[in-house]
Amino acid sequence: MTQRIAIVTGANGGLGESMCKALVEQGRKVVGTFAPGHDAAAANWQEEMKQQGFDIIMKPVDVSDFNDCKRLLEEVESSEGSVDVLVNNAGITRDAPLKKMQQEQWQAVIDTNLSSMFNMSQPIFEAMCSRGWGRIVNISSLNGEKGQFGQANYSAAKAGIYGFTKAIAQEGAKKGVTVNSVSPGYIDTPMVRQVPENVLNSIVGGIPVGRLGQPEEIARAVSFLTADDAGFITGTNISVNGGQYMA
Ligand code: CAA
Repeated sequence: MTQRIAIVTGANGGLGESMCKALVEQGRKVVGTFAPGHDAAAANWQEEMKQQGFDIIMKPVDVSDFNDCKRLLEEVESSEGSVDVLVNNAGITRDAPLKKMQQEQWQAVIDTNLSSMFNMSQPIFEAMCSRGWGRIVNISSLNGEKGQFGQANYSAAKAGIYGFTKAIAQEGAKKGVTVNSVSPGYIDTPMVRQVPENVLNSIVGGIPVGRLGQPEEIARAVSFLTADDAGFITGTNISVNGGQYMA
């Protein structure tokens, strides 16, 4: 069987790296994306991965820009082949309580964390359906499930991912295309380490497992959902949050 091609957005971020490694270990050819303008960091990371035995193709894309996503996907399809696995992982935070939140903070998070789902999925969804096989995993968040003080923008975007996921899961179901979400809790990444120490300590105190999660624990859920034999799992969410929120 030919090697399936997987795209991971935000590949060299806190969670993306573990996802890329897990997908390579699963036998996928992995194309990672990074935000335009960060070429040197992406190249260094790519080299570091290579040293560790993980060959990952890296390409820039602005996930908040539909035309740029279309361009990237056409480029990947012509240079590597059909994309069978898409992990919509890229995301940002612009935390502030609502009374202080600027419109730009709202818009940036909605565009990057929610519109990106449409921007990356729409251009390839029909092709996946016509080939009769596809896996899309959208990375949401614990805070999309429960809401979080200081994250009206982020919680709204991450909650929106559930509706998007369940809608297109219905559209892909008869065509062999599964669409699911994974909702990480507080994971030991640079994004979480930005949270003020006193706030983070109190958050960790509320995690029943008693610690931050590890990126590999998110990647495990992603590779489970993208596996060849995961075709009966669609339109659902896997929460990986140490028991912090039990829906
Ligand atoms: N519940 C209730 N009150 C809270 C609160 C909470 N969770 N967090 C803070 N407050 C209160 C404080 O006690 C303080 O109260 P007083 O004014 O009475 O002293 C007040 O809110 C602070 O308000 P400020 O206007 O001064 O807020 P600030 O400008 O300092 O901003 C914040 C605060 C940016 C929201 C900060 O609390 C923060 O960063 N919180 C963490 C947000 C968070 O969890 N982000 C997650 C990032 S990681 C991620 O997103 C990954 C993922 O998917 C899980």
